[in-house]
Amino acid sequence: MFSWFLCCLLSFGFSAHALELRWDWSTINPTQVHFSSDFLWGAAVSEYQVSGAHHCDHSNWALWESKAAHQSGKACDHWATMDETIEALKKIGVKAFRFSVEWSMLEPHEGDWRDDVLQKYYDFLQKLNNAGIKAFVTLHHFTHPEWFERKKAFEKAENNRYFVNFAKKVIKKLHPLVHKWCTINEPGIYVFQGYVRGVFPPGKTNLFLAGTVLENLLKAHVQLYLEIKKLEIGKHVELGIVHNILQFDAYHDNIIEKALCDRLNAIINDAVIGFFEKGVFEWRALPGMGYKKHSYPAAQHTLDFIGLNYYAHVLINWKHPSRESYRKDDIKTDMPYALYAEGLYRAIQTISVLKVPIYITENGIADAQDDRRELWIQRYTYALHKAIQDGYDVRGFFYWSLMDNFEWDEGYRMRFGLYEVDFQTGKKTLRQGSHYFVNLVAQTYKKSLFSWW
Ligand code: BGC
Repeated sequence: MFSWFLCCLLSFGFSAHALELRWDWSTINPTQVHFSSDFLWGAAVSEYQVSGAHHCDHSNWALWESKAAHQSGKACDHWATMDETIEALKKIGVKAFRFSVEWSMLEPHEGDWRDDVLQKYYDFLQKLNNAGIKAFVTLHHFTHPEWFERKKAFEKAENNRYFVNFAKKVIKKLHPLVHKWCTINEPGIYVFQGYVRGVFPPGKTNLFLAGTVLENLLKAHVQLYLEIKKLEIGKHVELGIVHNILQFDAYHDNIIEKALCDRLNAIINDAVIGFFEKGVFEWRALPGMGYKKHSYPAAQHTLDFIGLNYYAHVLINWKHPSRESYRKDDIKTDMPYALYAEGLYRAIQTISVLKVPIYITENGIADAQDDRRELWIQRYTYALHKAIQDGYDVRGFFYWSLMDNFEWDEGYRMRFGLYEVDFQTGKKTLRQGSHYFVNLVAQTYKKSLFSWW
């Protein structure tokens, strides 16, 4: 089945890939970086990942977990310990926090709106503001209410209305305390995991439906953007979408692997970027089947900024399609990809075609031993620094994640946190490997204090 799929992909045209960028790290000192004092350093989480099914019990993920291998439980119990989260942020000195509001808590049943939950977010935001921490709030981070899932969520364009109504209600109440809104987190990953691989809810494996869902998600962003901008508050509200670039490269640099990279790149990266860049949604999944090309000229002007998440360098190896591939000397992470900071630089170049300010809304390493985290942070912040020096308009960087949390289909094995979390006691301990990041943040902001004198 898989090889049939590959053959189909290959027979549908391709173009040559750029050579894989590699820097000679033996000649680079990645700690020689300087960031201006208005650069926004932050950390990120999503509500479900830090509060778990226990608190988000009316969500699609809680429903999914009842049959899944991993259960999230209370996760970090963030919902009950929000003040601790603020203390953890203050301790590392970041000036921004990205988190998501949980639709399934705000509207657990259709039309049953929980003002107390909204008020709790308001109070949390107030405290963040008092601490001088800017809030980036995500409206959809892979989770939504079970009732919305039962209506088939974003499989139906007419369901976008439910999301837009929810989001407008939240924005109207919280906007004075929110710096930027991330409408939808990683639409490409949501469909890839939920509709191609089937490892996220709703667990489907249908490439054609995947295209429809992706198109509807992107349309939902546009609808929300246009409706908010029509309101009086519109001029004070900044909205962007968050896109995850998976960096595909051919393992052997042969024509077959290059073609496959192009195909994967087209559905996971270009479909999203092209939508906003050209105002066209193009879905080229399988040759001759399910091809879509629809025009959305309004989409071109619906980003006040773009959020870029970057983690993975994916090497396509025709000989071992089902196995992860690494280059000789690659340093592995606990996730199925290696440390490859050049990929962040390339992703910034790619996303810059959108010509709006860029925020790195997620980047970080799963490293349970904490023996590669420091190197990861050094190299990726070096790549970020280089991109800024080379003229790319990157304004902020959020480390994923502030604390260890529930890593979806991977459960609790993957430890992304700057803080290690003891899930029995809830205790959070700053990891040794996070100190470089904390010092970099301190250096960036200390300079401004001295230059003022
Ligand atoms: C997602 C996060 C996830 C992270 C690490 C991103 O794709 O937005 O929810 O935890 O990757 O895998």
